[in-house]
Amino acid sequence: MKETAIEMNKILKEKSDIFYFMLSDFGKNIYMPKGIIVQSAEAKEKATKYNATIGIAESKKMPIFLNSLNKYFNILKPDQIFPYAPASGVQELRKKWKNKILLENSLIKSQDMISMPVVTNGLTHGIMLFADLFLGENDEIIIPDKLWENYNLMFEERYKARVVNYPLFNKKSTGFNVDGLDQAIANSKKDKIVLLFNFPNNPTGYSPTLKEVDEITAVIKKRADDGKKILVACDDAYYGLFYEDDLIDGSIFSRMTGLHKNVAALKIDGFSKEDYAWGLRIGFITFSDFYKNADAYAVLEKKTTACIRTSISNCSLLSQSIFLDIMGGGEVYVKEKIEKFEILKKRANKVKEIVYKDKYKDLWEVYPFNSGYFMCIKPKGTTAEKVRASALEKYGVGTIALGEDLRIAFSSVEYEELDDLFEIIAGVIRELK
Ligand SMILES: Cc1ncc(COP(=O)(O)O)c(C=O)c1O
Repeated sequence: MKETAIEMNKILKEKSDIFYFMLSDFGKNIYMPKGIIVQSAEAKEKATKYNATIGIAESKKMPIFLNSLNKYFNILKPDQIFPYAPASGVQELRKKWKNKILLENSLIKSQDMISMPVVTNGLTHGIMLFADLFLGENDEIIIPDKLWENYNLMFEERYKARVVNYPLFNKKSTGFNVDGLDQAIANSKKDKIVLLFNFPNNPTGYSPTLKEVDEITAVIKKRADDGKKILVACDDAYYGLFYEDDLIDGSIFSRMTGLHKNVAALKIDGFSKEDYAWGLRIGFITFSDFYKNADAYAVLEKKTTACIRTSISNCSLLSQSIFLDIMGGGEVYVKEKIEKFEILKKRANKVKEIVYKDKYKDLWEVYPFNSGYFMCIKPKGTTAEKVRASALEKYGVGTIALGEDLRIAFSSVEYEELDDLFEIIAGVIRELK
């Protein structure tokens, strides 16, 4: 192991033994060298005469650029568009995102409780960085059984970890399966417990109620008291799209901050779904534990940065500059987000009116949903795959079959078309039954 990695690990072990314990072998070995990146950053501050460090081309203190490219941008300046971004992201954007997290999570009472968010290339990349640092061949990751299918592909195939599922919903299918979570932790033979929560959930559109979040927190605390060491990863891709009043007030991440010495947490979030900017590829990863030690957080940020540096080098400066600008845009930005939120909420409420109608009772079971982009039904008397294939072939209606369930993205169907959509699906199930 390189000297710098040993030094970083020593700090982490002293200041946050829980995060140190959670590291994968790769997570232990990775370090941020005092190489080109660090020397360039130093030079940026101090090289007032000539700065011959930067790996871009400059003229008259501006990046050299092609007008053929620059003509597409009329608000941003060339130096906000063309150069490389820092590997950990644009500092001002990171600060703004941290403030957003604090604003939306009243339980995170001070800046020092969480690390500085590191910028990722969208949330998938954030999840990958989490897995880089904390998951290896001998690890398990415990996730509810209704999940984004990319998790399996990433954690099992890329990282060779074992995905352990428990039923997302309780036996009566009325809400989150707190006992299932408790049992999954208890049944694990490992001391290192890695949990992943994704609320609002893909594919079901479910988020736990406030009461359920209290219960989830109590279970994690109880198991930590018993000596289990627990890392809680929160995939908050659809954060903020909560359509009912009694739901979780912030992210589960905020419940984990300072909860217990044996609990570490991280939050993966970003603009993709929250700001309807899927293709601009900007997300964040943020850490928190009981100790809230600035040196430990700095090590985690550096290790994350090194993971970025060794894979994609850095994330789009253009996208970061756009988001930095709109986050400073004040009322207009907030107003627009509320408008879009209302569109989705109205659709979710309409779907609620439709799917529980008596005429559909013998055609499908509805899973609880209250947030996000999706909802799921379980067709009766036929399979989800048959319904999917037939709806597509005969009626040109696309849905996703996931095992027994059919996922319907109301996020991409107009309010006025929802009645018709479910009528078609109902017709297909009747034909197949
Ligand atoms: C639960 C969940 N997490 C993460 C992602 C990935 O988001 P991004 O497009 O930012 O990589 C998705 C996208 O579908 C998702 O559904």
